[in-house]
Amino acid sequence: MCGIVAYIGPRQACPILINGLKLLEYRGYDSAGIALMNGELSVYKRKGKVSELEGFIEGQKQESTVGIGHTRWATHGEPDDINAHPHRSGNGRLVMVHNGIIENYSPLKSALEKEGHIFHSQTDTEVLVHLIEEIQQQGDLPLEEAVRIALGRVVGAYAIVLMDKNDPDKLVAARKASPLVIGVGEDEYFLASDATPLAGHTKRVIYMNDEEIAVVHRNGDLQIKTISNRVQTPFVQELDMKIEELEKSGYEHFMLKEIHQQPETVADCMRGRLSHESPYIRLGGVEEYDKTITNARRFIIAACGTSWHAGLIGEYLFEDLARIPVEVEYASELRYRNPIIQEGDVVIALSQSGETADTLAALEMAKAKGAMIYGVVNVVGSSISRLTDAGSYIHAGPEIGVASTKAFTGQVVLLTMMAISLGYKRGRIPNSYFHKLITELQNIPGKIEKVLQHEEQIKYIANEIKDRHNALYLGRGFNFPVALEGALKLKEISYIHAEGYPAAEMKHGPIALIDEEMPVIVIATNKSAYEKIVSNIQEVKARKGMVIAVVTEGDEAISKMADYTIEIPDTEEPLTPLLSVIPLQLLSYHIAVMRGCNVDQPRNLAKSVTVE
Ligand code: AGP
Ligand code: GLU
Repeated sequence: MCGIVAYIGPRQACPILINGLKLLEYRGYDSAGIALMNGELSVYKRKGKVSELEGFIEGQKQESTVGIGHTRWATHGEPDDINAHPHRSGNGRLVMVHNGIIENYSPLKSALEKEGHIFHSQTDTEVLVHLIEEIQQQGDLPLEEAVRIALGRVVGAYAIVLMDKNDPDKLVAARKASPLVIGVGEDEYFLASDATPLAGHTKRVIYMNDEEIAVVHRNGDLQIKTISNRVQTPFVQELDMKIEELEKSGYEHFMLKEIHQQPETVADCMRGRLSHESPYIRLGGVEEYDKTITNARRFIIAACGTSWHAGLIGEYLFEDLARIPVEVEYASELRYRNPIIQEGDVVIALSQSGETADTLAALEMAKAKGAMIYGVVNVVGSSISRLTDAGSYIHAGPEIGVASTKAFTGQVVLLTMMAISLGYKRGRIPNSYFHKLITELQNIPGKIEKVLQHEEQIKYIANEIKDRHNALYLGRGFNFPVALEGALKLKEISYIHAEGYPAAEMKHGPIALIDEEMPVIVIATNKSAYEKIVSNIQEVKARKGMVIAVVTEGDEAISKMADYTIEIPDTEEPLTPLLSVIPLQLLSYHIAVMRGCNVDQPRNLAKSVTVE
């Protein structure tokens, strides 16, 4: 959560910070602020979007070749001008931006208050910058040394960047469990929560590791040390990100662009990995662990939100095709319930951002218990991708809309390739079916393209249900997790209450909710349970519910019963989620637009949840 951006070099910092904050705004958008140094330290901050801040600084003193910026996702203290970052130290010498939570802020604050510190905000961040000031003053220390000592006393997660008025030619940054990337330019440095604000400026990046402190100097020097005072050698990597990937490319919202990109992103995820020639399915990052994975006793999939839904589809895939037992866990629960993880278990983490704090913590726990850890991640160089023993990127490109779409289909494609490959290697699927699944997977991008052509019809249905207060999503088997995902998408961006259920579970409770006000979205593509789904639809219709059915092309029976049907092309049953989710994404998108909601930045949410 929250976006940090900072700059030091020969150029004007202010436009770089504002543009960087706009690119990071998807991470948090309660308030935004910047600090600039122009003889004095100027701090400008405002509740609301970066555009508010932009208006606020117009006509103010902006001259500065060094600066720090922040866009906030509040944890401590409501989103307002005072709690917005940057925060100053008591004597006004230091200024800091922070992403994360200082868990022991309360005792630290009491101790500092006893020393005479006065706090203006309710944030944990202000406590940390005062603590650093206190340590700096007491020992007359350089800023980085004061930061190092202070962080030794802190419990929690942080990415921080500080400026010191008395030493304006450097920035000090540190991270633990919240991401921070250094961009290395010609005589200039950038710092940011992720690489997006760097892409337009430099191709050389350093992903900071946990418990590292970096000092970047105007003269070009860069030093990295650990909190325990060990000097580190910076590892500079090439950034593979194009600036066009960060633009809306003519679409009204990033979410719409990302929904429409799926034929391409799904193909990218399969590129070079899938063929009818041996080795058929090749997931490069895991070859070393091939035996461990193929002979796994059990898979434990850990994830949150949409990624957890992809994980549930993984469970159906691995159990059905490869006969490997799977448990799918909310990462936050896995971590805190002392799970039994044994030799032979493989823990698979699914994460778009690769920075989700709950997932990271669960992985650390599993690693400590000796499990092999495999990551399925989108963001290259992210914390999860670096923590795992092995992993595969889904290659969906930057996903900017807070509601995840193309990352979901990327994760499902990757898990599908893994399941097919394991099923083949373990002798659990016949050769002919194996090749059929490969062919069908190769056809999926074209079929997604066909589903996208139904957008106008989906828009029409969106208009019919946009004013409802509730919605029910039903699906069976592989499509039960899709029902959960459809409901989450609607909740997230249109604020309509929605529930996803296994279709047959409806009669055990949710059926009580059904009346003429309740739209019921049914994914009715399953061949194996077709009659059962038909019965479920009859049950809804008998109670006057409105049925919107996602059916296989050419379906007649359900089309006669449902109020609206959306057709998807036929495919092998394990692959249907890759098609059935698309109309649900479009439906929630258009409902949200019609309700006037901020689709790309829904209220209270943040793209990358880096707090537990
Ligand atoms: C998806 O639409 C959500 N905004 C959210 O549930 C997300 O999937 C979750 O926070 C997990 O994120 P990750 O994939 O980056 O780990
Ligand atoms: N905990 C800090 C606050 O509430 C930082 C939150 C963030 O990561 O944006 O201000």
